Amino acid sequence: MTKASDQKYRARIAGTGSYLPKKLLSNEDLIKLIENTQTTDAWIHERTGIRNRHVAADDQVTTDLALEAAKIALKESNIKPTDLDAILFATISPDQTMPSASCVLQRKLGARDCMALDLSAACSGFVYSLAVAGDFIANGSYKNILVIGAEILTRFVNYKDRDTCILFGDGAGAFVVTRSSDNEPSKIYSHHLHADGYISDVFELPMGGSAYPFTHENIDKGLHYMNMKGREIFKHAIRTMSQCCGEALEHNKMSGQEIDWVIPHQANVRIVEGVAKHFDISMDKVISIIENMGNTSAATIPIAFDTAIRDGRIKRGHHCLLAAFGAGVTSGSILLRY
Ligand code: UT7
Repeated sequence: MTKASDQKYRARIAGTGSYLPKKLLSNEDLIKLIENTQTTDAWIHERTGIRNRHVAADDQVTTDLALEAAKIALKESNIKPTDLDAILFATISPDQTMPSASCVLQRKLGARDCMALDLSAACSGFVYSLAVAGDFIANGSYKNILVIGAEILTRFVNYKDRDTCILFGDGAGAFVVTRSSDNEPSKIYSHHLHADGYISDVFELPMGGSAYPFTHENIDKGLHYMNMKGREIFKHAIRTMSQCCGEALEHNKMSGQEIDWVIPHQANVRIVEGVAKHFDISMDKVISIIENMGNTSAATIPIAFDTAIRDGRIKRGHHCLLAAFGAGVTSGSILLRY
């Protein structure tokens, strides 16, 4: 990664926004959808920390959720859609395969001639996108970038698969990243990103690409649903998130105690607790909103971050450590001063 000293400019988070669809699916409601299972609210809550997840309305698409989050983030940043130089959209559930969600959002927002890119790194997608945005700003390519994490994953959930269906929900989060002036303390310090495609079979959504085209046969096999090896992902998640957080702390010569807030990917509260324990960080310093949101993949980190700004926990000047892992498998961390 580029050293901070080599960077021309500094990138800062100018504003954030988030949106969760109104409809809530509780564990009790979900259990009624799962056939032949011993699943209980107690099991789901104990093993994942989740009680409710939000579900998009039938007429909502992923860019609708993103639009709501983006409007708030732009307003908070005092930036007009026409001021945007770039839109980076992290998602694995775009409205369509083509055109990109970022181009659809550009139109819905009324942004003008700007660069628009979708980034597919599953649950690490927002951290990857924020890293790209930070470097675009730092090297002088762009001044104002909208970074989105948005998903409607409930449309790819098999409600016969009790391992997977209990976890996922829908939502969107947005950051506006801008060039900061020298006297502003707010800054993205570093990013550490990783991928390990050798174990990509632990979490897949096979259909829709060239390997498994849209055929009745593939649908009959259930290849249009997400499938995962939960226990394997669990172990991998704690290991890689701990690795990325360790790299961030070491690179910036900081200890876990100097971090004001850890904002981890919200996949399972036990994963988050495992990472916090690894760094001897109290759970009081960890933003966890999984109980009433579930796993919204690329959207969990910006939604959690925005929620904690609004409830007064994250304040300007605080040091924040973002950490994610996801299908691919991908992982990454970002250390920033808000
Ligand atoms: O963003 C990345 C996306 N994916 C993830 O983050 C997934 C990470 N993994 C997890 O969150 C957890 O592995 C799960 C929540 C998926 C499963 O929890 P676990 O504590 O790892 O359970 P397990 O897979 O070790 O299964 C324990 C038992 C098994 O029964 P036996 O073999 O011990 O008799 C499962 O069959 O629990 C059973 N089980 C369930 N029981 C009731 C699995 N799912 C359920 C369920 N209800 N929904």
